[in-house]
Amino acid sequence: MNRRKFLVGAGLAATAGAFVSSCGSRRSASTESASEWDKVRAQFNLTPDQIDLSALFIASHPKPVRDAIEHFRRTLDENPTFYLSEQLNSHENDVLEAAADYLGAHPANIALTDSTTMGLGLVYNGLNLLSGQQIITTEHDYYATRESLRLAADRSGAQIRDIKLYQQGDTITADEIVSNIGNAIAPETRVVALTWVHSSTGLKLPLKQIADAIAEANANRDESQKVLMCVDGVHGFGVEDVEMVDTGCDFFMAGCHKWLFGPRGTGIIWGNDRAWSAVNPIIPTFMDDEVRNAWMRGDEPSDRITARRMTPGGFKAFEHQWAMAEAFKFHLDLGKDKVASRTHELNRQFKEGLAGMSHVKLYTPLDENLSSGIVCFDVNAMSPRDVVRRLSERKIVATSTPYADSHARVSPSIRNSSQEIDIALSEIRALA
Ligand SMILES: Cc1ncc(COP(=O)(O)O)c(C=O)c1O
Repeated sequence: MNRRKFLVGAGLAATAGAFVSSCGSRRSASTESASEWDKVRAQFNLTPDQIDLSALFIASHPKPVRDAIEHFRRTLDENPTFYLSEQLNSHENDVLEAAADYLGAHPANIALTDSTTMGLGLVYNGLNLLSGQQIITTEHDYYATRESLRLAADRSGAQIRDIKLYQQGDTITADEIVSNIGNAIAPETRVVALTWVHSSTGLKLPLKQIADAIAEANANRDESQKVLMCVDGVHGFGVEDVEMVDTGCDFFMAGCHKWLFGPRGTGIIWGNDRAWSAVNPIIPTFMDDEVRNAWMRGDEPSDRITARRMTPGGFKAFEHQWAMAEAFKFHLDLGKDKVASRTHELNRQFKEGLAGMSHVKLYTPLDENLSSGIVCFDVNAMSPRDVVRRLSERKIVATSTPYADSHARVSPSIRNSSQEIDIALSEIRALA
């Protein structure tokens, strides 16, 4: 994998000072010298008088992404028909190449989508499921997975089996998660639908260990009967330093407009060859000439499904889709390893701070093998919404988890400093 040098070029240094001096009095007491991460923060136009701990929600675009969007918007506005006809293929290919570079994958295995939700909907509803087959999913999954599966089951007659991955949040182990999944797999299981990093608790699943357990269950199955491991990867994507092969999954769906800080309204599906051969498209593609040519001839296209064929067609917000390449390059220029270690460092600081507060209950594991960039917690006698509101009054942007059992949630990212974490912790301490 081509790992670019940390913070090369891109004029990062030039804008660092602007951020440090624009931080206002809250940061002026800071002892942290302007670091490489200040220069990263300076790439974002986030309002400077707030501490934004909501990277998991919706991206603010860093400068290279903003510039690319602006460039494509201007060019399209000048001559949309000509530019689209001339440039569509080459820009799509640039995006796929950059995504492949980031994912450590082949461009032919990547489909472009508008969001995580679109990827989940396309995959789960595109799977060739039969009545009597089973989909295993978990109680901890987000609405987008659950609703896609409900629709897929309604359509196909497949059954959904819901499992619990752990008994108690404060004693979770990777082995417990893996054995709960392994034990649930039955002869009729065709799909295991999971989420890499849970947005309800911040738990990160040990994907490779789960994949190994699934591979064991698959050992004696025919290819068409093998269990497919499908993952909503959005909250590890743009954080963890892994390549697709390290995850062991068959399908991986993620939006690029959260942790990757890519253009809003963009996402990807990655699938291995087994995965693509198990689905059918839901939306006609514009990316596969074979399908269009077959239509012109009044013919059927071959039934070989590819990532291109699974990429939904129709015209797009092309200035956003084409600017995706810059988001992948932004992360590769920083270094995936450095992004991962910085995000973990800030999250560790947050979790350790909360763990020392007697009026706070922490739901996210301290173990970094079981956590990533999300920290979920409750403050005694306060609703999660009230915690978020009180923090917002102190100019700290947090969110509450959109689940029946809701918690307050922060997601420290490479846009934050250690001083910001300290400030947020002291505001939570003051809620006692
Ligand atoms: C686990 C998870 N998956 C998917 C989504 C939705 O992502 P998108 O907006 O890219 O569809 C969210 C929250 O926004 C989420 O927490």
